[in-house]
Amino acid sequence: MQRTISRKSGLELTHPALRRFPSNDPNLQGWDSADSYIVNYVEEHLPECRNALVLNDRFGAISVALTSTRTTLFSDSYCALHAADLNRSNYPKDLDTVNQLDAISGDFDVVIVRLPKSLFFFETQLAWIAQNIKPGTPILVASMVKHLPHTAKELMEHYLGQTHVSHAWKKARLLLNVKEDRPITKTLESKGFDVFGRHYDTLANVYCRERLDPGTALLLQCIEAIGTAETVADLGCGSGVLGVEYARHFHPQLVHYFDESFDAVRSATLNHEKHAPTVKHQSQCGHSLERVSEQRYDLILNNPPFHQDQVVGDFIARAMFEDASRCLNENGRLVVVGNRHLNYHQILRRWFKRVSLIKSNAKFVVLMADNH
Ligand SMILES: C[S@@+](CC[C@H](N)C(=O)[O-])C[C@H]1O[C@@H](n2cnc3c(N)ncnc32)[C@H](O)[C@@H]1O
Repeated sequence: MQRTISRKSGLELTHPALRRFPSNDPNLQGWDSADSYIVNYVEEHLPECRNALVLNDRFGAISVALTSTRTTLFSDSYCALHAADLNRSNYPKDLDTVNQLDAISGDFDVVIVRLPKSLFFFETQLAWIAQNIKPGTPILVASMVKHLPHTAKELMEHYLGQTHVSHAWKKARLLLNVKEDRPITKTLESKGFDVFGRHYDTLANVYCRERLDPGTALLLQCIEAIGTAETVADLGCGSGVLGVEYARHFHPQLVHYFDESFDAVRSATLNHEKHAPTVKHQSQCGHSLERVSEQRYDLILNNPPFHQDQVVGDFIARAMFEDASRCLNENGRLVVVGNRHLNYHQILRRWFKRVSLIKSNAKFVVLMADNH
């Protein structure tokens, strides 16, 4: 592999139909210059490549654009894999998708990594590459410059050997490596966190992997005040701490965990089985409650995200509130915690007749919304 990037490489991905999922704005494109940069690089410097492994492609832009290559795409995100599926249908190509590193199989000519937001998650992927990809394979990492910490190169050198940083092109950079054969000296473990003396395990890409979210901590103080319910959904469950603590307190008939992160849904399942084994539970990976058709809930617990990857906004929270209003029983309640400044109180009124404040502190509010 050459270690320099040609400055004439000016191609940009220009797929008009490449879309984001979920899409709050149809004008937002489904790729950025980090995606274009890496695709250009592979086409220019690795034209013989026939079998690529792509990690963390955000909407399938890289996987779909590598036209002459059979591609395996790994992502922990349901939304990313769903976007890749939608985009693939416009640009038919040979693409396998997996949501667990251990499920990846095959021999790859190149590994392309879109730098994920969590450096710990990145590190687990580097450790996996170190153990599973043959020495001599080009390993390429793409990121926008503003999201690329110095430690990313250090981590790559630790696990895979000498790494070269490309020049910046349209505010994007690549980290370039040819995998060396080196021993792994570090054991990677997500520590999880404790709540009320119980330990919560968290897989690598779970939100608030090693501490309880302060908004969630406030909502947990309200569990008694929320009262009983038989069918409960923990929407955007992360580690599952809200659903599990509710299950322990009120012993409902069913707790249903939802998240778009596969690691989150797996962690919630593990934590429920450990801490609330007598309460029936189910888990589903998906965008909000989009995949729920028949089931209705007495109670939905929700600490919504305020960003998708690095894109900040309340569009996922809004989708969650709308879905919650559809999936609640007539007498059902949605309990939401959020930062004060996000103004969820007003936003919830769009779908709920009544919104009341249950608890607040300097930073967060816990709100109950219903249509009674
Ligand atoms: C603020 S965290 C709350 C996590 C957990 N409930 C807690 O309280 O610690 C928001 C969660 O929503 C999940 N999420 C983000 N986008 C989502 C989407 N489109 N559909 C479902 N869940 C999503 C994230 O993966 C994350 O686990």
